[in-house]
Amino acid sequence: MSDQSNPTSNVIIKTPSQIAGMRVAGKMAADVLVMLSEHIKPGITTDELDRLAYNMIVNEQQAVPACLNYKGFPRSICTSINHQVCHGIPGDKKLKDGDIVNIDVTVIKDGFFGDTSMMFEVGKPTIRGSRICKIAHECLWVGINLVKPGVTLGDIGYAIQRHAERNHCSVVEEYCGHGVGLAFHEEPHVMHYGRQGEGLVLQPGMTFTIEPMINLGKKDIKVLPDGWTVVTKDRTLSAQWEHTLAVTETGVEILTLRPGEARL
Ligand code: MF3
Ligand code: CO
Ligand code: CO
Repeated sequence: MSDQSNPTSNVIIKTPSQIAGMRVAGKMAADVLVMLSEHIKPGITTDELDRLAYNMIVNEQQAVPACLNYKGFPRSICTSINHQVCHGIPGDKKLKDGDIVNIDVTVIKDGFFGDTSMMFEVGKPTIRGSRICKIAHECLWVGINLVKPGVTLGDIGYAIQRHAERNHCSVVEEYCGHGVGLAFHEEPHVMHYGRQGEGLVLQPGMTFTIEPMINLGKKDIKVLPDGWTVVTKDRTLSAQWEHTLAVTETGVEILTLRPGEARL
């Protein structure tokens, strides 16, 4: 996700051939998540998951892991565990029973970007872990299901925030979805909170992510001294799901939909 401090520039409307390129990159990012899902078990380290992702992207897909060396990020994927909100750095810590972990994969293929993330529950699920993963997932789909020409980004943010708060959860405000496609982070910023009717009016050919970060406790976050890992200040669990989307004439195409993934 992007922070909100970037200078503004214009939203790039993609051509059908650019969207076709993004479809390929999006499918590759989704395929990496499916591959990793087979390996999420107590005892595996996030470095091992990172290595599996790197090898698949570079050797099989002949593509580029967008995170690696992005603004100095040292790994190919982000792995954010439990109270980590986003941008967790893979390392030698083992996943353990009851952990929840977000894995965020961005692939560049032929210059086009696909960006997607999902939650995994490690071993035996916990009540709180399952709850925050489910609510964050619902928040993503509440947003996706609104996307069509004429809807505003404020409509989407409003609906996501309403769903989170209805369930006594909070929305992280410092990080948001973003335009994506020809670059990792393009205009616009896609806030996961907002007011109905405000903000950019969606048009066919716009491509962006929705990637709400939802906390079981308060919305406040801080960045750890590693300069990357974002955590909840109150150390409550946080969950996030992300898809890359294209606005079509009539609605939305989900460019990072996984084979067999159910729509909510
Ligand atoms: N994939 C993240 C996003 O959804 C960005 C990760 S940037 C990194 O926008 F440097 F932390 F990898
Ligand atoms: Co993103
Ligand atoms: Co991402």
